[in-house]
Amino acid sequence: MNAPALALHDVACTFVDKHDPGQRYTAVRDVTLTVGAGEFVSVVGPTGCGKSTLLNVGAGLLAPSTGRVEVFGQPLQGLNARAGYMFQTESLMPWRTALGNVVAGLEFRGMPMDQANEQAEAWLRRVGLGGFGDRYPHQLSGGMRKRVSLAQTLAPDPDIILMDEPFSALDIQTRQLMENEVLDIWQGTTGTGRKAVLFITHDLDEAIAMSDRVVVLSAGPASHPIGEFAIDLERPRDVAEVRSAPRFIELHKAIWAVLRDEVLKGYAQQLQVKAA
Ligand SMILES: Nc1ncnc2c1ncn2[C@@H]1O[C@H](COP(=O)(O)OP(=O)(O)O)[C@@H](O)[C@H]1O
Ligand SMILES: [Mg+2]
Repeated sequence: MNAPALALHDVACTFVDKHDPGQRYTAVRDVTLTVGAGEFVSVVGPTGCGKSTLLNVGAGLLAPSTGRVEVFGQPLQGLNARAGYMFQTESLMPWRTALGNVVAGLEFRGMPMDQANEQAEAWLRRVGLGGFGDRYPHQLSGGMRKRVSLAQTLAPDPDIILMDEPFSALDIQTRQLMENEVLDIWQGTTGTGRKAVLFITHDLDEAIAMSDRVVVLSAGPASHPIGEFAIDLERPRDVAEVRSAPRFIELHKAIWAVLRDEVLKGYAQQLQVKAA
C-alpha cells in the first residue's frame, strides 16, 4: 500500500507561556490524522481549538512536543519541502508585483529566471489574472490578492497543499468562486498527479462542499479528532449548488451533531478569556 501524503501520529503540542514558563497549555493531544495521496481532507473545529497548530506541524513550521509526522512515509525533518501553504492572513510581499510574488517561490527553488517567469505567468492566467502581473498587491482587490496567493502556492507544483482558512476574509460570492476554482484545479490533475489537500476551516458547509473526508476536532485544551466523515457527494461539484443536495443536508446534520457541542464549548471559553 502507498504511504499517505501526510500522516500525524499521536501528535501533541504544548506551549509554554513566554512570560511565565511555569504555565503550559496543551493545545492538541493524541492527534492521529492522515491525508492520502490525492485526497482532499478538511479539518473543522471551533475557533482556538488547534487547527492552525496542526497545519503548522504538517508544514514543518512547528515541531510537535510528542508524536511523529511522516511525509510520503518519510519522517518529516524541518520544513515540509513537498508542501505548499496558503494562510488565512495576507502573505503577499507588498513591494513585489503579482508576477514577482508568484515568481519568488520558484526563484527560491532555484528555477532559472526565464522559466520561472513563464511558469508564474501561466499560473496567473490559470487563476484568471492574465493581464494583472504588473500590479502591486495594493492595486488588487482582496479576491484578486487571494488569487495571487493561490498561484503562488501552486506554481512550485507541490504534492501536498496546506490551506488554513484561506478564504474566510472574502465575501460569500467571491469565496464560492475561489472554492470552485480550487476544486477545478485540484480535479484537473488526475492519477498520481493529483495533490493531497489538508484544508482547515471553521465553516462546516465549506468543509463538506470541498472534501473527500471531514475530520471534526474537539474544543481545546488537548483538542483531538472526535469524528471522521466520508463525503460521498459526486464530483465535479459546484460548492454553491451542492449545498441543496439532499445528501449534503444529511451529512451536514450528522456532522453538526458532533461539532455543535464543541463549538458551544469553544465559544464559552472565548467569553471566559475575554472576561479574565
Ligand atoms: N505559539 C503559541 N504560544 C502559545 N499558545 C499558542 C501558540 N500557538 C497557539 N497557541 C494556543 O493554542 C490554541 C490553538 O491555537 P490555534 O491552533 O491557532 O487554533 P485555531 O487555528 O483552531 O483557531 C489557542 O488556545 C492558542 O492561543
Ligand atoms: Mg487558526
